[in-house]
Amino acid sequence: MYDQTRQPVGVELHLGFFTNTGRPLQELTILDAGCGTGSYARALAPHVGRLVGLDLNSGMLAVAEKKLAPYPNTELHQGSITELPFPDEHADGVMLNQVIHHLPPDDGFAALRSVFAEAARVTRPGGVFVLHTSTKEQMAQSYWWAQLIPKAAERLAERLPARFAADGVLEAMGREVGLTCGGVVVPVSEVLQGEDYLDPSGPLSKNYRDGDSTWALATEEELQNGLSRLRGMIEDTSIDSFLARAERTRKTYGQCLFVWFRKGDRAVDIEH
Ligand SMILES: C[S@@+](CC[C@H](N)C(=O)[O-])C[C@H]1O[C@@H](n2cnc3c(N)ncnc32)[C@H](O)[C@@H]1O
Repeated sequence: MYDQTRQPVGVELHLGFFTNTGRPLQELTILDAGCGTGSYARALAPHVGRLVGLDLNSGMLAVAEKKLAPYPNTELHQGSITELPFPDEHADGVMLNQVIHHLPPDDGFAALRSVFAEAARVTRPGGVFVLHTSTKEQMAQSYWWAQLIPKAAERLAERLPARFAADGVLEAMGREVGLTCGGVVVPVSEVLQGEDYLDPSGPLSKNYRDGDSTWALATEEELQNGLSRLRGMIEDTSIDSFLARAERTRKTYGQCLFVWFRKGDRAVDIEH
């Protein structure tokens, strides 16, 4: 299942971004919006004051509950990131990891704009919001199997905002709701799928495919065509040069990016 094929990339980055609140990490309340099975929540819980997880899916939350049981400073809620069930200024920091591709892109990313508005509302002034996602460009270029199921990859890319096409789309969405962009980080030394990422026969197993949303968007015919092309490349060993080329591209663009925002337009005074 999902948990066996995904690892929380960028935990150190999150901790670093949250230090921009100007308060010690141990005093912060952090909301993990779209927490899934709680991988990020578990990784951050030992470092922060309180960790609040939220997800729409009760199955994901049940797994997260088990994972977070050893951490008394954690709590879980069921709800949507487009309508957060929390009062204003509830958290010092909000993070959103690999969730926005689940939102409909219609009406100029209206749902994503609601997520920005909600994140801004529940963050206290001076607090930090971190959006971790893949962009349209990364989706098309940085997952090697996208070339096997190109139509499915295009469908997924359509749900993602472009980073470069429209000059700072995400930064502008933040500005509209009072969030000032502090920077963008693209990690290239890690992949979301961990060490199995480059296993050439990985996609032949459903377990591996369940670790990435692209596969679910392929029709049965597209899937079978892609897998048959893969088998062919494994058989004639051209898969090695195929993967090497794909890796060069991935290392150029990265699979994902982290954009961090501060609520308000000025750096806060750090208390000593
Ligand atoms: C790809 S998983 C990422 C989970 C986790 N953030 C991680 O990185 O391990 C996406 C998660 O977003 C959740 N999700 C999708 N739409 C949501 C919404 N509108 N509100 C809350 N959660 C949502 C799904 O249930 C799923 O658990």
